[in-house]
Amino acid sequence: MGLITLLRALSVVILHCYVQSSSAVTRNDRIWPIGGTTSVDLPQSSPFGPRLQISRGSKYDYHRGVDIPAILYSNVYAVADGIVRINGSHPAYSDGVVQLKHTDWDEGGVFYTNYIHVVMNKSGQNPITLAIGQSVSKGQHIAYSNGTSSLDHIHFEVRVGSVFSRDCCNPWKYMPNNDSDYSSIEAELSLTPNYDSIDCQAVVIVSVPPNLLTFNRVELHILDSSDTPQKVRFYDMCGTNVNRTQGQVDNSTYQDDPDDYSSSYLIRISPMFFNSKSYEKNESAGWGFEFVDLPSLSGGGRVMAIIFDVFGNSKSTEYLSYTCSNGTTTAPTTSSTTPTHSTTPTSSSPTLAVAATLGTICAFVAIYSI
Ligand SMILES: *[C@@H]1O[C@H](CO)[C@@H](O)[C@H](O)[C@H]1NC(C)=O
Ligand SMILES: *[C@@H]1O[C@H](CO)[C@@H](O)[C@H](O)[C@H]1NC(C)=O
Ligand SMILES: *[C@@H]1O[C@H](CO)[C@@H](O)[C@H](O)[C@H]1NC(C)=O
Ligand SMILES: *[C@@H]1O[C@H](CO)[C@@H](O)[C@H](O)[C@H]1NC(C)=O
Ligand SMILES: *[C@@H]1O[C@H](CO)[C@@H](O)[C@H](O)[C@H]1NC(C)=O
Ligand SMILES: *[C@@H]1O[C@H](CO)[C@@H](O)[C@H](O)[C@H]1NC(C)=O
Ligand SMILES: *[C@@H]1O[C@H](CO)[C@@H](O)[C@H](O)[C@H]1NC(C)=O
Ligand SMILES: *[C@@H]1O[C@H](CO)[C@@H](O)[C@H](O)[C@H]1NC(C)=O
Repeated sequence: MGLITLLRALSVVILHCYVQSSSAVTRNDRIWPIGGTTSVDLPQSSPFGPRLQISRGSKYDYHRGVDIPAILYSNVYAVADGIVRINGSHPAYSDGVVQLKHTDWDEGGVFYTNYIHVVMNKSGQNPITLAIGQSVSKGQHIAYSNGTSSLDHIHFEVRVGSVFSRDCCNPWKYMPNNDSDYSSIEAELSLTPNYDSIDCQAVVIVSVPPNLLTFNRVELHILDSSDTPQKVRFYDMCGTNVNRTQGQVDNSTYQDDPDDYSSSYLIRISPMFFNSKSYEKNESAGWGFEFVDLPSLSGGGRVMAIIFDVFGNSKSTEYLSYTCSNGTTTAPTTSSTTPTHSTTPTSSSPTLAVAATLGTICAFVAIYSI
């Protein structure tokens, strides 16, 4: 084949790719499943991510979608064009489910949307019929909402790249919303002794407005007294190091430090109270992240936190200095760089801080339905 022919063939390929990508469905082309418009379905009664369920004996689990309260037998709409993969029930799901497959999304790859706690009929109406493999259009009525004994609602999920529950990610990342308001997500960093009052930990409390449930990641940056970065510890709700298949366990969760699974460095996650009433009262959703066992650094260390939403928008806290090194006062190591931090343990203020902070964390009690 001559060069010209090859170039022609390539230009056809490039043009084809261009046409394909320009027809991709962007986030703002989609709709929310209950309202059926680009306005966010609000209130939501349980955000994506780690949570506690008082209704199940304060058990912790990983909430793999968002709960959207809806009047019993509300219409449920396809959020985008797709292909039916599950049409009302499936042995892997304990309640009614419709699942659609999407391959034309702007983000690239394959996506699945799940509409759970739904039924295909309501009395006096003809049942909705969806054949497995059939195409549905954005806005098509695909089911009726049902719920659980504690709340009439649907559970809405987006699974990224596969049908497996481990691939769930925050639906807000893929649905229309005002992400430019991300600065209303707030983080507060404090330092406290650990529960054993020996080693230090940093606590980051993240507050998320009830109408912008887009928080995704927190990073704790640890620097030594000469401001040399030592370690970044993080928790990422859509990241590979979080167990999103986590079923009901204890009333709190610990995650191994993703940098060092063999270490005793842990991140303890305490979900904050949140349900649909929180929205009515304009109360924040949120989480407490306790980064347990900060490294003992001679001359002390500094920490700061950065929070990110699902779109990568970020916000940093101020730096805090710490001097805790296993509860003992260590003499500054003499080196060519003069230590700039006091080595005297600041005993009284952290104690007050821990009381206040733990008070807040212990008040993080949630009443959720699934
Ligand atoms: C509606 O669905 C339920 C459960 O899926 C079934 O028990 C009931 O017979 C159906 N009713 C009608 C009218 O199809
Ligand atoms: C689901 O699909 C199967 C097979 O295509 C079909 O037999 C069944 O009637 C469908 N159910 C509904 C509710 O459309
Ligand atoms: C739907 O919700 C109602 C009311 O909570 C409940 O009685 C019913 O069993 C649920 N399921 C169906 C298929 O209607
Ligand atoms: C963004 O906010 C405006 C008002 O602040 C609202 O009218 C609009 O519906 C919102 N858009 C989305 C996608 O929620
Ligand atoms: C994640 O949690 C599930 C359910 O509790 C458990 O079976 C699985 O082993 C966990 N996976 C990892 C990698 O810890
Ligand atoms: C957490 O669970 C433990 C036992 O598993 C219990 O002793 C403790 O009171 C619970 N804490 C909260 C805040 O529910
Ligand atoms: C809700 O709270 C946020 C701050 O958390 C505030 O900016 C906003 O004005 C409040 N809205 C209402 C309706 O009270
Ligand atoms: C902290 O101090 C205790 C008591 O002196 C000691 O047993 C423990 O090994 C120390 N831990 C570290 C990490 O240095």
